[in-house]
Amino acid sequence: MIIGLSYDLKEATPAQQDGLNDASEEYDSPETVELISAALEAKGRSVVKLGGGKEFLDNIRREKVDIVFNIAEGKGNHRSREAQVPSILEMLSIPYTGSDPQCLAVCLDKPVTKKLVALDGISTPGWLKIADEEELYQTSWDGFPLPAIIKPAYEGSSKGIRLTSLAYSVSQAQEKAQRILECYRQPVMVEEFIDGDEVTVGIIGNSPPGMLGMMRILPKTKDEHFVYSLEVKRDYLNLVEYECPVLLEQKILDKISDSSLKVFKALGCRDFARVDFRVSPGGTPYFLEVNPLPGLGSYSDMVIMAKMIGWTHQELIGAVLDAALERYPQCGHM
Ligand SMILES: Nc1ncnc2c1ncn2[C@@H]1O[C@H](COP(=O)(O)OP(=O)(O)OP(=O)(O)O)[C@@H](O)[C@H]1O
Ligand SMILES: [Mg+2]
Repeated sequence: MIIGLSYDLKEATPAQQDGLNDASEEYDSPETVELISAALEAKGRSVVKLGGGKEFLDNIRREKVDIVFNIAEGKGNHRSREAQVPSILEMLSIPYTGSDPQCLAVCLDKPVTKKLVALDGISTPGWLKIADEEELYQTSWDGFPLPAIIKPAYEGSSKGIRLTSLAYSVSQAQEKAQRILECYRQPVMVEEFIDGDEVTVGIIGNSPPGMLGMMRILPKTKDEHFVYSLEVKRDYLNLVEYECPVLLEQKILDKISDSSLKVFKALGCRDFARVDFRVSPGGTPYFLEVNPLPGLGSYSDMVIMAKMIGWTHQELIGAVLDAALERYPQCGHM
């Protein structure tokens, strides 16, 4: 079996106003590409590296592959960027791992995703979407609970989410929102801050999808308001501890797993996904977002969780591939 590997590599980009640079944050490192490639090569399969963007277009037309293992995040800051590679593969009738373009495009748009999951009765923090500067100063903040977290509406990997992303007053919220509009050239989401436990859930498979596991992310120093921000994710070894299995009340865990599977199904996710929650002090899990293309590098949450339950990285990659292969009986099983 020949497996194509599509991916976007991190590029060197200039620092932003706050000295941090997250323009390439969602892209993968050469080490991650090598690690996934090695995992896919198990069982005598061969791997062809297809890259991303225009390089992917050239390679996918030239190479003959049975299936593409897709980790490409897509180019630009379009909310449908994760759908770019899967759309091309669908056009060329080439099988691929992971969710389809519609699911990927919807899930990168946090406000649209929240509307859809709320229809299924899943609790999600209150929010406002601000499309542009004009809307920013027309928005009524009446009764909006503070503090609020101010984040880009179409990002992942904590792009635009900093330790300073909380707003304690309307004027602070406006100022932070304005900065995101300018720096990230996309709408802003103002979200009610849920000051409680952070839990992320890994889901794998399709028939039926099952829980890989749940992991709680605990700050090492008890900050007043913990945010799993860009700074924290980059220095996770020093700043957080991971707990898996999660030591919360069983009824909270049941609710989180039930909600995660509902989200996976409602949005039409396939093969694997990671769902993020914050649990309110009263014990209600609030859905934050779903990642149908979660990171698969050694330091990604899904991989850390898999290792904590005793899986190897190779087993995780193999499980994602197997879930996809089951959807394409013509590929056979290898
Ligand atoms: N409404 C909220 N209440 C509490 N914390 C929040 C809220 N929204 C975001 N956060 C914090 O910010 C972190 C990043 O937010 P979110 O998951 O929306 O961003 P992301 O960039 O899509 O994340 P990922 O790296 O998982 O793709 C969360 O893990 C959480 O710690
Ligand atoms: Mg998240």
